[in-house]
Amino acid sequence: MKISILGAGTWGIALAKMLCVSGHDVTVWSALPNEIDNLNATHIHPIFPDIKLPDELSYTADIETACKGRNVLIVAVPSPFIRSTAKTAAPYLEQGQILVSVAKGIEEATLFSMTEVIEDELGDLVKEKGLKIAALSGPTHAEEVIRSIPTTIISACQDEKTAMFIQEIFMNTCMRVYTNTDIKGVELCGALKNIIALASGVLSGLDLGDNIKAALITRGLAEIKRLGVKLGCCEQTFYGLAGMGDLIVTCLSVHSRNYNAGILIGRGKTPQEATKEVGMVVEGINAIKPAMRLSKETGVELPIISAVNSVIYEGASPADMVDQLMQRSKRSEI
Ligand SMILES: NC(=O)c1ccc[n+]([C@@H]2O[C@H](COP(=O)([O-])OP(=O)(O)OC[C@H]3O[C@@H](n4cnc5c(N)ncnc54)[C@H](O)[C@@H]3O)[C@@H](O)[C@H]2O)c1
Repeated sequence: MKISILGAGTWGIALAKMLCVSGHDVTVWSALPNEIDNLNATHIHPIFPDIKLPDELSYTADIETACKGRNVLIVAVPSPFIRSTAKTAAPYLEQGQILVSVAKGIEEATLFSMTEVIEDELGDLVKEKGLKIAALSGPTHAEEVIRSIPTTIISACQDEKTAMFIQEIFMNTCMRVYTNTDIKGVELCGALKNIIALASGVLSGLDLGDNIKAALITRGLAEIKRLGVKLGCCEQTFYGLAGMGDLIVTCLSVHSRNYNAGILIGRGKTPQEATKEVGMVVEGINAIKPAMRLSKETGVELPIISAVNSVIYEGASPADMVDQLMQRSKRSEI
């Protein structure tokens, strides 16, 4: 297959390497020409200095080259750049191409998922050109995928055939791919688990041990599921790899930038200082305001996300966040 990756961040590069090693013809595009110059010159990504990228991988800063003659375009930029990337690519999209979003977020202005943002930005083009839009999500840290460590992922699309087509492309000895037609549920899980991971990091930063973290992950999943079911998503999605799987890895892994940002906040850094120190986009912070609005619009309570919101945006301390969660009125387990 001829595949382009739009975005040369850590996830885009890990997927590019994996697909190239699987024998696909892969080109990486970035909106940042310096990044492309550097990749062309060194075949090394600055975040993975010890990993030599395959010689067959090509790089371009020209969006037309990236879109022309490609079967699949993987949109791998952080969520705030999804709309602008779709807009940049739109004039060069070709009949029957498949666009796959691997970003995890919710657009603040519209509350759209990432594939909804792409669809919205492309408008009539989707029908005119017979484009298909899918999402890939799951417990998949780039740091492990780039080292060919066994990983699983969900290929999600309302159109099952497209989900299976993507499954076929990504499947290899290190990547096991499942399919799900509940794309909204899959994308909601990917966006919201990052906020729970911030809370998990705060608990680690406060040295609160493992009991409360197990509670956080369990109750975090209940909270995400409650909202998702209200929005019409399939309950089973939340217990699968995109839900429980991704929540576990994001709340516990040293590779999770949301978890790491949370640790710094728990140790007393401001959210701004923590984001700066992590040095890459912290999608959990971007997702808080949209999640709070979804809670308001649906009437679904999101206690953990509200508590994180109070630390990030309302000046509450990390200890206040824990008190807020522990002192809530009595509840029954659901
Ligand atoms: N890193 C992972 O392990 C991982 C795994 C699964 C999903 N994701 C998701 O994939 C998305 C990308 O994550 P990442 O880790 O690659 O992020 P990243 O911070 O490494 O990506 C930065 C890249 O974004 C691109 N970029 C920067 N400014 C841009 C602009 N103005 N316009 C267009 N592109 C621009 C550049 O190519 C830059 O290298 C996120 O939504 C993330 O949640 C990441």
